[in-house]
Amino acid sequence: MPFTIAIDGPAASGKGTIARALAQRFGFLHLDTGLLYRAVGAMGGDPVAAARALTPEDLLRPGLRSAEAGQAASRVAAIPEVRAVLVDFQRRFAVQEPGAVLDGRDIGTVICPGAQLKLYVVARDETRAARRAAELGVDPTEMLAQLRERDARDADRATAPLRAAPDAVVLDTTALTIDEAVARAVALVEDRLSAQ
Ligand code: DC
Repeated sequence: MPFTIAIDGPAASGKGTIARALAQRFGFLHLDTGLLYRAVGAMGGDPVAAARALTPEDLLRPGLRSAEAGQAASRVAAIPEVRAVLVDFQRRFAVQEPGAVLDGRDIGTVICPGAQLKLYVVARDETRAARRAAELGVDPTEMLAQLRERDARDADRATAPLRAAPDAVVLDTTALTIDEAVARAVALVEDRLSAQ
């Protein structure tokens, strides 16, 4: 049976970095599910039609990592029909051999409730804003306001809100370097793999 790792958490918590590192370390496939919503938001027009028409090439569009694309993604992600269209693709991705890592907001709660390991990655708001501002070369104070607005929208929506699954391991990266955060996640995966 393929091994599925579900990683959720608020924006810029470090979940993407951890997901990429785990995929590389264990030879698993990786899907950054935020990119699906970013691509739908960037396509404009009717978001449900955009979600239906989405192709893998759309995930390579330039500009999808910008703060504006993140806000647009968060808005289309609150539409239940958009989420429904994207469920099957994510679930199929999750069961590929030898394993898959998916990061997003609802992976452990909705997309892969049976994942062998669920991580919920968090960090202090100011730390997340500083990291993302440095990455994008923008003002940290403006970034903090944007992240809080986006997290509130993602956590307060009715369908698949940002939440830790009851069986998720919470990983707080506030005081950790990338290497330390990755090392903790690797240890958890090794633990679960050896228990299989
Ligand atoms: O992970 P990210 O910052 O690239 O995600 C962009 C937006 O997409 C995020 O604010 C909410 C939405 N999203 C979601 O609703 N569910 C997911 N599994 C992933 C992202």
